[in-house]
Amino acid sequence: MVNARAIDLTEALLALSRADQRAFTREAVDLSLIAEEAAETLHPVAAVQSVAVSVRGDAAVALGSPTLLQQLATNLVQNAVLHNSGPGGWVRVVTSATPGSAGLPGAAVLSVENTGEELAPSLIATLTEPFQRGTARIRSPHGAGVGLGLALVQRIADAHGGTLELAAREGGGLRATVTLPVATAAER
Ligand SMILES: Nc1ncnc2c1ncn2[C@@H]1O[C@H](COP(=O)(O)OP(=O)(O)O)[C@@H](O)[C@H]1O
Ligand SMILES: [Mg+2]
Repeated sequence: MVNARAIDLTEALLALSRADQRAFTREAVDLSLIAEEAAETLHPVAAVQSVAVSVRGDAAVALGSPTLLQQLATNLVQNAVLHNSGPGGWVRVVTSATPGSAGLPGAAVLSVENTGEELAPSLIATLTEPFQRGTARIRSPHGAGVGLGLALVQRIADAHGGTLELAAREGGGLRATVTLPVATAAER
């Protein structure tokens, strides 16, 4: 167990430094496929927690590292499943794209929304800090990680010229929105 933890931590830190160095080749990545894959990966965990996961939306093609963007989506969906309210809870993953126009860049958007406990806005502002675990004192779900998940999502979004937005849902839970520059037709 201690070993598995150390490996998780090492892999997360390596991914962080890779994202920071922006040392990755960019290719066209459809966020809707990445989202499907993340949901599939987390399906067994969601089944155990009795949390319903849905994925819908349009193709949304960004330019980036398939590995890092897969990690970004998987971290968000994993968080949404594990930091949920348990049986009867849900996770909704939605992708969308807006084309660029008249000099304005288009956006490829991935949003992950989940039920869960009420989150104070002051807490949400700290969640992307490394090793920050919001409700750790109250509840630390098995397999949740070491508090690097959102730090990594933030840095992967940054490294792709995008943003991560976190917002408390009314009634509890979180909405995480990643917005990346959409790939142009020539880049696909
Ligand atoms: N989807 C979510 N819903 C509710 N709380 C969340 C969600 N994602 C993250 N959090 C909170 O943010 C903290 C930091 O997330 P993260 O960096 O992934 O660390 P970890 O999952 O290892 O605890 C979590 O401990 C949890 O308190
Ligand atoms: Mg996490």
